[in-house]
Amino acid sequence: MTANITREEAAKELEYLAKEIAKADSAYYQNDDPYLSDAQYDRLKHRNSDLEALYPELIRPDSPSKRVGASVKSAFAKVHLTFPMLSLGDVFSISEVKDFVMGVKRFLNTAEDIPFMSEPKIDGLSFSARYEKGIFVQGSTRGDGTTGEDITANLRTIRQLPLTLPHDAPDILEVRGEVYMSKQDFFALNEKYALEGKKTFANPRNAAAGSLRQLDPKITAERKLSIFAYTWGETSEKPWQSQDQFFEYLQHWGFPTNPNNTLCHTIADIEASFNHLMEIRASLPYDIDGVVYKVNSIALQERLGFLTRTPRWAIAHKFPAEQALTTINNIRIQVGRTGALTPVADVEPVNVGGVLVSHATLHNEDEIKRKDIRINDTVVIQRAGDVIPQIVKVLTDKRPTCSQPFIFPDKCPVCGSHAIREQDEAVRRCTGGLSCPAQAKERIIHFVSKDAFDITGLGEKIIDTFYQEGILHNPADIFTLEARNSGDDLFSQGRGLHLERREGWGPKSVENLFAAINAKRTISLPRFIYALGIRQVGAATARLLAKHYGSFNHFMTDMINKETAPLVAIDGIGAAMATDMVEFFQEPHNLAIINNLLTQIKVETFTDTGRTDSFFTGKTLVFTGTLTQMTRAEAKAKALEAGAKVSGSVSSKTDFVIMGADAGSKAKNAQELGITILSENEFLQKLSL
Ligand code: IVH
Repeated sequence: MTANITREEAAKELEYLAKEIAKADSAYYQNDDPYLSDAQYDRLKHRNSDLEALYPELIRPDSPSKRVGASVKSAFAKVHLTFPMLSLGDVFSISEVKDFVMGVKRFLNTAEDIPFMSEPKIDGLSFSARYEKGIFVQGSTRGDGTTGEDITANLRTIRQLPLTLPHDAPDILEVRGEVYMSKQDFFALNEKYALEGKKTFANPRNAAAGSLRQLDPKITAERKLSIFAYTWGETSEKPWQSQDQFFEYLQHWGFPTNPNNTLCHTIADIEASFNHLMEIRASLPYDIDGVVYKVNSIALQERLGFLTRTPRWAIAHKFPAEQALTTINNIRIQVGRTGALTPVADVEPVNVGGVLVSHATLHNEDEIKRKDIRINDTVVIQRAGDVIPQIVKVLTDKRPTCSQPFIFPDKCPVCGSHAIREQDEAVRRCTGGLSCPAQAKERIIHFVSKDAFDITGLGEKIIDTFYQEGILHNPADIFTLEARNSGDDLFSQGRGLHLERREGWGPKSVENLFAAINAKRTISLPRFIYALGIRQVGAATARLLAKHYGSFNHFMTDMINKETAPLVAIDGIGAAMATDMVEFFQEPHNLAIINNLLTQIKVETFTDTGRTDSFFTGKTLVFTGTLTQMTRAEAKAKALEAGAKVSGSVSSKTDFVIMGADAGSKAKNAQELGITILSENEFLQKLSL
C-alpha cells in the first residue's frame, strides 16, 4: 500500500494522521470517550509509521510517533502530576449549557443563580508551571493527565512566563494554562519556513505543539510562543475564594490572563458572553475553539468535585463544527470486537477546517436510512471538536439518476453469520460471537492493547497471522504460547510451534515475546476488567468497578448471580451498562476463557491509591433519609472519593448506614442487622479524619 504513494500524498496523509490520532488520543485520554476501536486506532498508527519509514524527512514535529499517550516512547523526562491535569466535558448548544447549569444547581440543591466565570477556550496546549518558594522549578505538559513531559527548559524560553514570583505567592504553587502561538506569529513562521523550503504547519495549534515539544529548547526559543494562565494545580495555600479572585492573584504575580474572561451572574449573561466571543472570534489575535464556563466560587467547586476525568463545576461550550462538500466513494461495514456492524463512508478527501478528511462515520443502519445516504452522493461533511467526521446532509439534486438506496447487510461481512438487531437497539450485531474472526481477533487485539495487558510485540499483524493459523483463538491462548512453542504442553506431544523457525522471527525475537508475555502474568484489577472487552466497559469504568469490588472474584460472583443493585448504585454506571456486564458473564464461552486465564495469571486485588488513609476506605455505605448539609449526590461523591462503596440497599455487607432526617425502612433494617448508624454530622466528621 505504501509502495507507490508520492511524497506529496504522503505529506498530506501524515498531516491527516497526526490530527486524527491526536483527536483519538484526546477522546481516549482526556474525555474518556473513545470513538475509534483499538484496532482502528492501531491501523492509523501503523499507517503513520509505515509512511514515516518511507519518507523520514516528512516526520512531523507533531507526529503521533513522538507523542506521549502513544505507545512510542518520548525522549522527554516524565513528570508525575500529583494534581492531575483534567479535561472538560464538551457541549455544543446553549440548551446543553442550560442542562449543565441545572445539573450544578440540582447537585447543590439550590434554586438561586450561581455565578460562573466565562473564559475563551484557547486552542493551544495546556502546561503546568511549578514554583517553589517563588522560583520556577518545573514545567510539564499534560501528557495523559497524571504523567506529563518535562518541558522546564522549553517553558523557560517563553517571555511571558514569570521565572520568579512576589513574596506573597504560596511556597508551593503550580500555575496552569495554555501555551499558544498568535495568528500573526504563526503566519510569519510559516512564511519563513516556506521561503526556506521547510514544511509549514497546518494551524497555530500544531505550530505551538511542534515548537513547545522540541527536545532542543533553542528551537522553542526561536519560535514565538505566548501563554494565558487560567487554573492551578498543587498549592500550599489557597487564599483565593473564587475564580475571579484567582485571576487577580495571577495578574499580581505577573501571569497573563485573558482580557475576555467575564463573570456571569445569570444564564442570559452566559449566553451573551458566548455570542460575543463568537462574534469577535475571527478578530482575536489567537485561535479559540469555544468558551469555558466555571463555577466562580471555589467553595462550590469543592462541593461539586469531579467525575472520572472532568470537573462537575466546569464545561466547555464548543463553537459549531466546520463543514465542507464532498462525494461518497464507498460505504464499508466494519465489525468490531463486540460484533457491532458499523458503516463507514469513504469520501473523496476534502479539507475540513484545516484537516484532510477521507472518511466519515455513518453511525448505524437507521442513520443511513434517515438521511438516505447513498454511494456516489454529494454530501455536506462536518468535523466538530474531537469527534470523527460526520455526514450532515445529502444534496439530493446532485444525485446521479441511476442511484440506489444503500442496503444494509443482514449478514456479517466477515464471517457470514446472521447479523441481527435486538429490540430497542440501533446497532446490528454479528451473531457469530467468537467464531467470527473479526470479533475474536479484535478481542485479542484489545486484550493486549496499551490500557489492558499492554503486551508489546503482539501487534495486529502477528495476531492476524496467529489467528488464521490457529495458534491464537482467544486471549487465554497467549499465556500457553511458550509451553506450546517448545512442545512442553500436554497436547503437542513434543511437536511444538517453534515460532523461532518462522520467517521474520528468530530465537531472540521469540524470547522477547515470551518475556513480554510473562511480565504480564500478574495484572492489576482495572486492567484485567478492561481487557475482557465487556461492551461499554472502558478503562475508566473498569477502574470504577475495581474500586467498588476490590477483587475480581467479588465482581464475577455478583455478575454471575445477576446482582446488579450494587452496580447501578455506582456513580457513572447505568442500567444498560449493568445489563451488558451481566450478559457477558452469562455467556459460557466467556466464562471458559476467564477460568482458563485465571489458571495462567494472577489478578491483583485493588487498593485505591487515591486515598487509602480514609476512615471509609473499603467500607460499604448506605444513605437514607434527607440530608441537610449536602445533597445525596454530593454525599455519594464524597464517599466514593474517600474510597468507600455506596450501595442502594442495606444487607449484611453494609458497614455503615448514614441516616438523614425522616429515615424509613433502611434505618430499621440496619438496626435489626446490628449495622452502625451514623448521623450526617458523624459522617462528615469521619470523612475528615
Ligand atoms: S480549565 C479542570 N480553562 O481546554 C479544568 N481549560 O478540554 C481544566 N483550555 O485541557 C481546564 N482554555 O488545554 C480551562 N480557559 C480555559 C481553557 C482551557 C483552553 C483547554 C485546556 C484543557 C482543555 C479542556
